[in-house]
Amino acid sequence: MQIHINHVDISVSVGDITTWQGDMIVNASNSGLYGGGGVDGAIHRAGGPQIAAECALIRQKQGGILPGEAAVTTAGKLPYLGIIHTVGPIWKGGGAGEAATLAKCYINSLDMAIVRGAQSIAFPNISTGVYNFPKLLACQTALSTVVQYVSDRDSRVLPLKTIAFICFEQDNAKLYEETLKSYM
Ligand code: APR
Repeated sequence: MQIHINHVDISVSVGDITTWQGDMIVNASNSGLYGGGGVDGAIHRAGGPQIAAECALIRQKQGGILPGEAAVTTAGKLPYLGIIHTVGPIWKGGGAGEAATLAKCYINSLDMAIVRGAQSIAFPNISTGVYNFPKLLACQTALSTVVQYVSDRDSRVLPLKTIAFICFEQDNAKLYEETLKSYM
């Protein structure tokens, strides 16, 4: 399902993000940019060792990235312009600014995609796995942030035309579909 806001399609589907067809995908990484499990493991496996090698260079250069920040590497064997690695917040009960940090993940990733001229980008459900962020709040934060981002920009100069949310789990997809409807 998808909605159309300010000439940008915002869609939700169920699947493995490494098989999505488009310009750039986002990885839910960790501050050290060490490949992990979940979507991080899937992207490193599919893209091959070149991605980890570039993550190591970023680590050497700037000591990793903070929660909410993002960095770009090659996509290795995957057919993308690059992989955007962002670090979601670890859920600590909600009083540690987790939602604001999660919103920053989406904003910084979109900024990076635009700088690279991407016309399409796909996001996983950042922080909703190992980092334990509540799924409904994560969904509401992701969608409200992206809708605001797109609404605030001049669509005539925005290269981005598609923002896809790829849910690995049906329950997340259902939440996204229900929340997207409220923006129709
Ligand atoms: N495609 C899309 N989504 C996926 C895939 C995949 N191939 N595999 C898992 N997911 C989903 C999970 O179902 C979850 O909804 O990605 C979401 C995020 O879960 P995690 O990958 O556990 O990411 P996160 O909660 O942000 O935790 C990050 O986990 O793998 C480590 O290195 C990573 O330390 C970091 C931590």
